[in-house]
Amino acid sequence: MVNLISRLCGKLDPLSIGDYKENGGFKSLEKVLFKMKPIDVIDEIKKSNLKGRGGAAFPTGLKWQFVFMEESDEKYVICNADEGEPGTFKDKILLDGCPLQIIEGMIIAGYAVGAKKGFVYIRGEYPRSREILIEAVDRLRKEGYLGHNILGSDFSFDIEIRSGAGAYVCGEETALIESIEGSPGRSRFKPPYPPNKGLWGKPTLVNNVETLANIPVILEIGAENYKKYGTESSSGTKLISVSGSVVNKGVYEVEFGITLKEIIYDICGGLIKDRKLKFVQLGGSSGACIPAYMLDLRLDFDELRKHGIGLGSGAILVVDDNTCVVDFVKVTSQFFQHESCGKCTPCREGNYHVVRMLKKITEGKGNERDFELLKNISYVMEQCSLCGLGQAAPTALITTMKYFKEEYEEHLKGYCRAGKCTFKGGVLDD
Ligand SMILES: Cc1cc2nc3c(=O)[nH]c(=O)nc-3n(C[C@H](O)[C@H](O)[C@H](O)COP(=O)(O)O)c2cc1C
Ligand code: SF4
Repeated sequence: MVNLISRLCGKLDPLSIGDYKENGGFKSLEKVLFKMKPIDVIDEIKKSNLKGRGGAAFPTGLKWQFVFMEESDEKYVICNADEGEPGTFKDKILLDGCPLQIIEGMIIAGYAVGAKKGFVYIRGEYPRSREILIEAVDRLRKEGYLGHNILGSDFSFDIEIRSGAGAYVCGEETALIESIEGSPGRSRFKPPYPPNKGLWGKPTLVNNVETLANIPVILEIGAENYKKYGTESSSGTKLISVSGSVVNKGVYEVEFGITLKEIIYDICGGLIKDRKLKFVQLGGSSGACIPAYMLDLRLDFDELRKHGIGLGSGAILVVDDNTCVVDFVKVTSQFFQHESCGKCTPCREGNYHVVRMLKKITEGKGNERDFELLKNISYVMEQCSLCGLGQAAPTALITTMKYFKEEYEEHLKGYCRAGKCTFKGGVLDD
């Protein structure tokens, strides 16, 4: 474990500007405002090789450059604090533990891309974090860290806090933008992407909480020192949220390059009651289900990509062999069916049919044809859905059909090795 970006969490009063400054806080902001040009800041972030921590792992410096290059009278910075991916609770640790570091990252981002206004879009289920943020922004405004001519510089920037209302899709950046604008949270057609045309049609930078918390650290220690953490393709550290059948559940900061095995057995103390590990779902409900024999996989964007796996939000759900794979995927798919915004057919109809067929299989009414249909529907959803929700919804299904095919086949024969499914037999009654 390391303590790079979360080093202040739990160590100081999260709302004390004095405590934050005593621990090196706002040094990066001062350096940026008085010694660096916006393009120098962007170059340093590019050099650090920081990739977005919100799920898509897009290079942060490049995204900043896209917004910087747009000519516009207004630009915006949005901190995505929606944290709706099931099993993910790492942004909350930062929001509650070091909100000033996230805000410092936002102000620096605003300076770099040329934005004067920022929004934090916070998950509705985090009322306490919202209160902390509102208080933090208020205090920073009074102390001259937000508002006109920050710290006596030429740069002005202010922040508004907006709350989500529980829709998972509102974490998707364009649905989030719709929601801030006051419309129902539905993903937009892309392109144009937010850096070109985002909030109210203006160039908009959307970054995750953890991504923004990295910014002051990179500018304080320098990109070269930052890159000493992690691996060549994945620099720095990652906050992981570990849940499920492990002894020590929680949020940990780890260096990229660590293996799943080290996380589960060395950091989290192994499985509860010495149960046998069946698979690990990486990246939340939209992530891949990785079987026990692949636990030597390292947290590294490139290495994971070679296996067709994404790191997503960094959630790690540890699942033991008391769980039925088919039942697990059915429940996951029900989540996506519920959360689909309904705008596009592959996701809206696809999730409905996946749930319907998985129900059929767990009730012992499935047949070979369902298995083929599930494969076809997943492919269409993955390739043709409008946004990441529908594209990633069948990931658990696809990966379990690949790694646990025999369990699906057993269900077709009326047998559930975990003893979870109730087989009634007969034909599907719609
Ligand atoms: C359905 C869906 C939900 C998402 N939820 C979140 C979220 O809660 N927090 C987040 O930062 N990114 C979320 N994302 C990713 C965002 O669309 C976007 O890529 C991210 O905020 C960009 O920030 P980053 O470059 O710093 O990672 C979600 C994407 C999808 C498709
Ligand atoms: S993929 Fe799903 S959530 Fe995204 S736009 Fe289509 S229906 Fe809506």
